[in-house]
Amino acid sequence: MDRIRLRGENALNGSIPISGAKNAALPLMIASLLTPEALVLNNVPRLADVKQLERILENHGVDIGVHARRPVDIDDRGQQMTLTAAEIIDTCAPYELVSAMRASFWVIGPLLARMHEARVSLPGGCAIGTRPVDFFLYGLRQLGAEIAIDEGYVVAKAPKGGLVGGRVELPRVSVGATHTIMMAATLARGTTVIENAAIEPEITNVAECLVAMGAHISGIGSRTLVIEGVADLHGTSFEVIPDRIETGTFAMAAAMTGGDVLLSGARTDHLQTALDAISRAGAEVSVEPNGIRIVRNGNGLTAVDVEIDPFPGFPTDLQAQFMALMTRANGVSAIRETIFENRFMHVAELMRFGADIKIEGQTAHVTGVPELKGAKVMATDLRASVSLVIAGLAARGETVVNRIYHLDRGFERLEEKLRACGADIERIEG
Ligand code: UD1
Repeated sequence: MDRIRLRGENALNGSIPISGAKNAALPLMIASLLTPEALVLNNVPRLADVKQLERILENHGVDIGVHARRPVDIDDRGQQMTLTAAEIIDTCAPYELVSAMRASFWVIGPLLARMHEARVSLPGGCAIGTRPVDFFLYGLRQLGAEIAIDEGYVVAKAPKGGLVGGRVELPRVSVGATHTIMMAATLARGTTVIENAAIEPEITNVAECLVAMGAHISGIGSRTLVIEGVADLHGTSFEVIPDRIETGTFAMAAAMTGGDVLLSGARTDHLQTALDAISRAGAEVSVEPNGIRIVRNGNGLTAVDVEIDPFPGFPTDLQAQFMALMTRANGVSAIRETIFENRFMHVAELMRFGADIKIEGQTAHVTGVPELKGAKVMATDLRASVSLVIAGLAARGETVVNRIYHLDRGFERLEEKLRACGADIERIEG
């Protein structure tokens, strides 16, 4: 198993190109199931999760062509991927494939819409919480689907003639349920209204792609999506937005180490709450024509309280990284997680660096310490792992992060991007 070894206390200086967003690329790839024509996606990041979804889609019969799979340097523009689902040869998404990545469950929406049936494995447990699928099932039933659970699979059937538009009021904001029901509704007969829809930028990116494919969707970017079903969708060429979680992660890394880093291609409008928190913590955040600049020279960090919320709130996917930053701030910071019930697994690992963190229910109280010391630590999930890298970048001495396959799921060439800005970091293979 690969590990990352790093030596801390180097300021970061330079430019880091931001890759395409994993959480937009995955549902955009899934949208290819809705049309027999080619969907061309630009700026797709090279990630383990993307590879895994390629396998799942290929199993359904999607033909996938990738240009520039091998990057030239860290500044290149991501892969261009052409996905053609001319014929869906299998409407079953098996356990072996779905259990490796929860988002693959989302294929149920397009499969049901286009093929009128789907058999998709339940995604199962997940390190950061139970993550049930009840909202998906409720939403698809509202579109007329009959759903049964059989041996760990969700077996869904549309009425004769296909799904029918319906009213879906989501009990709480869910990114996955919004993507899935929105995709299913594009090919349903009649009008679907999704109330309390997620408004994350990735939802907007997917909705705009569906519109480019011929879907009729209004209310994009609002909590109410109205979808008029159409008989069929066509191919298009579409650009994946820059990854706001990668952006926030490198912004926090730069704030942590000090220095001057340009996050090239990043968008502030997708990350305002987190950037505000970083700026209140003591880093200078400025918008430049080609990205976001983060500067911290000399001054110390200040403790800032944050509450995690759906977009436009502070993202749960940046909670662990912000906690790492707060371990070095002056004062006590309260970080309240409201999305996932078990998303503090990085706390025990951060404490191995000498951090002072106490958990009380869903709130972590982080008391800043004057120094972190390098440690051997273990990655537990995708975002938690990168918080350990951020802590290691500021820690005295050597840090080794084990089980970094979690990192490879969601961060493209992390160590190369950090090394280009002066970090002393390397991957040890095997
Ligand atoms: C997506 C993101 C993930 C991010 C999360 C929250 C992708 C690929 N993943 O995950 O990185 O952390 O949004 O921003 O885009 N819930 C239910 N029943 C359901 C569905 C969800 O109770 O049927 C709950 C979940 O357990 C969780 C909350 O709703 O507590 C929000 O989850 P959701 O927005 O659905 O997360 P994902 O789409 O899985």
